[in-house]
Amino acid sequence: MATTTTTEYQYILTQKDGRVGIVQLNRPDVLNAISPDLMVELVDALETFDNDDTIGCLIVTGNAKAFAAGADIKRMADKSAVDMLLIDQLARWDRVRKLKKPIIAAINGFALGGGCELAMMCDMIIAGEGAKFGQPEISIGVIPGAGGTQRLTRAIGKARAMELILTGRMFGAQEAYDMELITKVVPDEVVLDEAKVLAKTIANKPGVAVKLAKEAILKSFDTTIEGGLDYERKLFYLLFASQDQKEGMTAFMEKRPAEWQHQ
Ligand code: CAA
Repeated sequence: MATTTTTEYQYILTQKDGRVGIVQLNRPDVLNAISPDLMVELVDALETFDNDDTIGCLIVTGNAKAFAAGADIKRMADKSAVDMLLIDQLARWDRVRKLKKPIIAAINGFALGGGCELAMMCDMIIAGEGAKFGQPEISIGVIPGAGGTQRLTRAIGKARAMELILTGRMFGAQEAYDMELITKVVPDEVVLDEAKVLAKTIANKPGVAVKLAKEAILKSFDTTIEGGLDYERKLFYLLFASQDQKEGMTAFMEKRPAEWQHQ
C-alpha cells in the first residue's frame, strides 16, 4: 500500500499508510515537549485525517526517546493565572477527544505529564518495554491540567492514581499494562509496526460501524448504565441505515468476504 509523507508542518510529521493516518511529534531537542504551536499543528493534522474519507484509523507517535515529556514548561513558567485563563491553551487539547475515528498512541520513551495525558486521550495505547509514563506535575508545583486526574483515575482507580499523581513517580510499560492503562506492551523496536497492524485491522472494518462503536464506548464514561444501554441500542438500530450493514449481512449469508464502502 502506498505511503505518502507530507512536510507542511514545523513541529510534526504526517504520513498516510494505506487507510492509516500517522502523526509524529517532532521536537526531538526538547523530548517532544508540547508547545501551543505544536498542539495547533497536531490538532489540525488529526482533524484533517478525521475528515479524510480515505483514512479509517489514526496513530500518534513520537521518537525512540520520547512520545512527549509533557507540556512545554519553558513556555508556561512565567505566566500568571490570568494569562493561563485567557490563553486557555489546554482547551485546544479537548479537540483530540472529539475525533470520530479511532486513534492509537504508539509510545517509546517518555510519556510524561501532558504526554501521558495525550496518550490517555487516545483510544488505545501500544507501548515499548522501555516506555516511561508518569504525571510528574506535582514536582514542578502544579497538577495535571489536561485530564490526568480524571482519565488516570478512571483507568486505574483512585488509590493507584492518588499515589502516582501525588508522588509524580514514573512507571514503566509493564506496570501500565498491569494497571490496565494501556492496550499492549511490545519490544521497543516494533512499537510503530504493531500500532500499524492494529490500525490497519481497524481501518479495514466498516467505517461507520467503527465510528459508532467508538462513540458508544466513550459514552460509557459519562452516563449511567441505563442511559448508555439506551444509547448503544439506538446506534445499533441506526447502523441498519448504512450500506455496510446490508453488505456485511448479505456477504455472511452468501459465504463471501464483505466489500466495505465505509458508508
Ligand atoms: N518542557 C520543556 N522542555 C522540556 C520538557 C518539557 N516538559 N521536558 C524536557 N525538556 C527539555 C529539557 O529542558 C532539555 O532541554 P535543554 O537541552 O535545552 O536543557 C531537553 O528537553 C532534554 O531534557 P533533559 O536534559 O532533562 O533530559 P533527561 O534525559 O535528563 O531527563 C526527563 C528527561 C526526566 C523527561 C526530564 O526532561 C523531565 O523531567 N522533563 C519534564 C517532565 C515534566 O515535568 N513534565 C510535565 C510538564 S507540565 C504538564 O505537562 C502540564 C499538563 O498537565 C498539561
